[in-house]
Amino acid sequence: MSHVARCDYRRVRKAVFPVAGLGTRFLPATKTVPKEMLPVVDRPLIQYAVDEAIAAGCDTLVFVTNRYKHAVADYFDTAYELEQRLARAGKDDLLELVRNVLPSHVRAVFVTQAEARGLGHAVLCAKPVIGDEPFAVLLPDDLIFSRSAGALAQMITLASEASAGVIAVQDVPREQTASYGIVDAPSFSGAHGRIQSIVEKPKPELAPSTLAVVGRYVLPPEIFAQLEKTTPGSGGEIQLTDGIAALLPHQPMLAYRFDGRRFDCGSRIGLVEATIQFALEHDDLAEEARRYMRAALEQADAEQSV
Ligand code: G1P
Repeated sequence: MSHVARCDYRRVRKAVFPVAGLGTRFLPATKTVPKEMLPVVDRPLIQYAVDEAIAAGCDTLVFVTNRYKHAVADYFDTAYELEQRLARAGKDDLLELVRNVLPSHVRAVFVTQAEARGLGHAVLCAKPVIGDEPFAVLLPDDLIFSRSAGALAQMITLASEASAGVIAVQDVPREQTASYGIVDAPSFSGAHGRIQSIVEKPKPELAPSTLAVVGRYVLPPEIFAQLEKTTPGSGGEIQLTDGIAALLPHQPMLAYRFDGRRFDCGSRIGLVEATIQFALEHDDLAEEARRYMRAALEQADAEQSV
C-alpha cells in the first residue's frame, strides 16, 4: 500500500459521460443521430444514464463529446419554443417531461474530445471539471435496469462504506472476454471483491477470469495522473482499464456485482432486448407489447415450420 490518502467517496457529485464514439454498429442511423440519442421506447439512451447518475446524487454532469455530437448538447439545452407552445396549449404533463430532462439543480458541462483516442483519453478530458474529487463514469451504451436503487447509487454506497473505488462487473461466457475489461478479484465477499488485476479485452485463453467490466465506475481523482502516463493499449487507444491497472498498487479498487440487469445497447440485439424490457415496464404499453410479441412469435414459428 502506498501513502496516498484515501479519498472521501461520500461526496461523489460529478459524473462523466463519454459520448464521443462513432456508433458504427448502428449505421446508417448513426450517420446523423449519435448512438446515445437512439431511443429505448421514448427516451434516448443517454437519458437513462443521466437519470441513474442524478438518482445517485450527482449534480454536475460532464459530457465528453466531439464536434459531431451537437444533438446531445441540444437535447439537454432548454427548448424555449417547444416549452412555450406546450405551456400555451396547457399540456403541463408534456412540459414537465421536457423540463425534467435535466432537473434545475443539475448542471451539464460539455467538454470536447478533439481526437478519438480512446475511453481513457475521454475521461482525462474531463479532468479540468472534476478537479480533486472522486467521480463517476457512466457509459450510456450500458443500460442498467434495476427495480431497486440504481447501479451507480449502489456503487457509491459501497465506495463510501469501503473507502475504495468501485467498478461494476458481471460474469460473461469465456468466449466473450475479448469484448470487455476483465478483472481478477479472487476473494469476493458477498457482492464485491478487491481487484488484484485488470486487463482490457484479453483473449479467452489469456483472461484472468470471466468477470467483465460493465460501464459504471466510481474513481478517485488520482486516476488522472495515471491516465496522463498511459500509452495506447488495446486497439491502439488510451484505455481507462490500463489507467486503473496502474492505480491498483496505490488505491484499493473493488469489483462489484450490482443488483440489476445490464443491456448492451452498443449492440443491436442489446437495444432490441432493452426496448422489449422497457416496453413491458410501461403501464400504458405493457399489455399491447405482450400481445404483439406473442402474436409475432406465433406467426414467426408457424412460418418457420412450413
Ligand atoms: C469499454 C471498456 C471495457 C468495458 C466496456 C463495458 O469498452 O473499455 O473495459 O468492459 O466498455 O461496456 P467498449 O465497449 O467501449 O469497447
